[in-house]
Amino acid sequence: MSTQNHKALFGALWNDYLAITPDADAIHEEFKALGDDTIINDHIALRTFNEGSINLENIGKHLEQFGYYAAGEYHFEEKKLYAKHFQHESDEDAPKIFVSELLLEEFSAELQMFCRGLIAEANWNIRKDGLSLPSRPWGKITREAYERLLEESEYAAWLAAFGLRANHFTVSVNKLRDMKNLETVNQFLKDKGFELNTSGGEIKGNEDVCLKQSATMANIVDWEFNGGKHPIRSCFYEFAERFPMENGELYQGFVAASADKIFESTNAA
Ligand code: NI
Repeated sequence: MSTQNHKALFGALWNDYLAITPDADAIHEEFKALGDDTIINDHIALRTFNEGSINLENIGKHLEQFGYYAAGEYHFEEKKLYAKHFQHESDEDAPKIFVSELLLEEFSAELQMFCRGLIAEANWNIRKDGLSLPSRPWGKITREAYERLLEESEYAAWLAAFGLRANHFTVSVNKLRDMKNLETVNQFLKDKGFELNTSGGEIKGNEDVCLKQSATMANIVDWEFNGGKHPIRSCFYEFAERFPMENGELYQGFVAASADKIFESTNAA
């Protein structure tokens, strides 16, 4: 049974996200101007490490308090990630939550040692922190450490810099009032001057896999490192259009091949 209000959790995650994703606010304003007063989110995504108090298993337990249950699992061999998605037990408009974790043991000894230092600092107590996720449960890293991580894993570098913030929120295109397909949304965004992620094509997925997704390229923000500020890619905004399965119900899962390309929306280059 759900005991905590998931809306409070999303409110906190949204504010954290908006602070470093100015595009999301700007796009909301554009949608509102078209008459979409309430934007329904299809899902959000969180990144973490596969060890310690903040691993996927523990985050999953935390989400259970809000009425979420694990509904699918995914493997990303090239990026060395394992992921699950969580759905709400009763609120159909509650965003799904996609949580991936970096498989530390598959990386260099240097990366493992550095990330284990962050994990040791995290010391997150699920029961004590009842309502929110710690946005970054460790101290500021240095720019040098960030660059070293980036050489091995863009994901590790992003996670070390930003922590458990939502890496992206995702607009449910099915629930927009006027723009009823992803092609229209993408054209609208480009006309308004937003940059889309073109890795694997602007649209990832298709009707056959019952899911089409697109994403903006992550915003570049002046991020506070230990030693000074430096501009890096932060978070992006995603758009998802879902299609019915053979039984007529809208598909609610994710497509690993598409998510794999979406991860590249935070690539530094
Ligand atoms: Ni996503």
